[in-house]
Amino acid sequence: MSQLKILPAEESHIEQMMALELECFGRDAWTEESMRFEALADHTRYFVLLDGEKVRGYAGLSKLPASHQADVQTIAVDPQLRGQGYGRKLMDRLVSEARNLGASEIFLEVRADNSVAQGLYASMGFEHIDTRKRYYQPDDVDAWVMRAALAAETKSQPVVLGIESSCDETGIGIVRGSTLLANVISSSMDQHARFGGVVPEIAARAHLEALQPTLIQALHDAKLSMDDIDAIAVTNGPGLAGALMVGVGAAKALAVASGKPIYAVNHLVGHVGVDVLEGELELPTIALLVSGGHTSLLLVRDLLDDVTLLGETIDDAAGEAFDKVARLLGLGYPGGPSIDIAAKTGDPKAIRFPRGLTLPKDMEKHRYDFSFSGLKTAVARWVEVAEARGEAFSVADVAASFREAVADVLTAKAVAACNDHGVKRLLLGGGVVANARLRELATERCKANDIELRIPELKLCTDNGAMIAALGAQLVMAGRAPSSLDFGVDSTLSVETVYTR
Ligand code: KG4
Ligand code: ZN
Repeated sequence: MSQLKILPAEESHIEQMMALELECFGRDAWTEESMRFEALADHTRYFVLLDGEKVRGYAGLSKLPASHQADVQTIAVDPQLRGQGYGRKLMDRLVSEARNLGASEIFLEVRADNSVAQGLYASMGFEHIDTRKRYYQPDDVDAWVMRAALAAETKSQPVVLGIESSCDETGIGIVRGSTLLANVISSSMDQHARFGGVVPEIAARAHLEALQPTLIQALHDAKLSMDDIDAIAVTNGPGLAGALMVGVGAAKALAVASGKPIYAVNHLVGHVGVDVLEGELELPTIALLVSGGHTSLLLVRDLLDDVTLLGETIDDAAGEAFDKVARLLGLGYPGGPSIDIAAKTGDPKAIRFPRGLTLPKDMEKHRYDFSFSGLKTAVARWVEVAEARGEAFSVADVAASFREAVADVLTAKAVAACNDHGVKRLLLGGGVVANARLRELATERCKANDIELRIPELKLCTDNGAMIAALGAQLVMAGRAPSSLDFGVDSTLSVETVYTR
């Protein structure tokens, strides 16, 4: 089964939460109106247990700003998942959230006849302190009130604001330690569509316009003000110089105005570090980063101190290849999604397009490198020839065969890197991770090679500020010194420079 994730509840989850609420609590269930109100209120924190898009559980607590007490309001797990430890995971999340909110104690109520739940809570440090007689009606069952004291660990969890502007996404993210608080993205993609690729000047101008509203929205989502931020992290490379400069300029201005420390971090390492937001980042890992701007294969032994570039594209990035091929097939921009759609009905074996840098002679020098420009030319040539002959051809077959060639090379080289280095883990990142065939083939090949595959939620795979904030928080928690304010942008920053002092 796929890995389940615990994420903050959103409006789009309410309907599924209600279905589960009815299934679990029957006639005691809340109304949809109270569920929506409580789950999205300012004084509450609700989380959902997600299996892909499906809500399989949820839990929520309330804490008033003036109070040191947090109250567990509800917890529910899909009956089919009971006994697998998900109740505890949800409770753990509530307890850590209560602690982060500054609560010193947390309370809950449980049916006096539910000894399984009582046992779980007791094992987490909750004590039975009171009984409310005949609390659950009409069953006439008492409620146990249980309480746990929370140790004040709060300050070891820094609140970090991350700013990302290396390409066409303006991203502002906020994390507390390894907990995601906000991730707001404003993309200028639409403005590049008619050019078939990102236009640097347009991207830079769009960042300038988007930064302030994106920042305001992120603080709003996190329910914080600038005063609550402990440090600022910003991408200073690699990426488009003009675009990077906008984010760096804004970050420095914020740091100076607020007196907060600033960390200049590496965008690519951010794509790896983001995994801490979905549980522990297990190391060592091989990371395959594929987007419109980069195609890199990394060996990460330590997130802050030991990141090695194994290989990268020697010409186009994988996403760029999708964009260019989509354009020559007359499909829309960005090319990745439109090729994915067109390929659905095509035959991936219809045309055998070349796999770049996979011949024995290339594999010596370029074992982990990629090349997609030859593939793009091959597709163009194939289409030209078909058209010159006046032959009708299937765009679906071309799209499927092209997609197959890209997914094949990417996954074959990533798996080879795992096997060569004895690393049993592969982490994917970047916008191309959305590709259906890439995911399928990666899953298949990792399984066959006994490699654990990690794919963060798509919103965390594409460029975003949360990954920058997450990496910044790791630096703060490791006690690293902030960057001095005179750092610049570096459009070709090496992945081995995790952050610039
Ligand atoms: O990470 P991202 O949002 O931005 C950067 O380029 O940094 O990635 C965007 C790229 C585009 O080139 C787009 O065509 C590609 O990711 N992409 C895809 C898919 N969805 C987006 N490529 C292949 N298949 C997809 N489904
Ligand atoms: Zn990226």
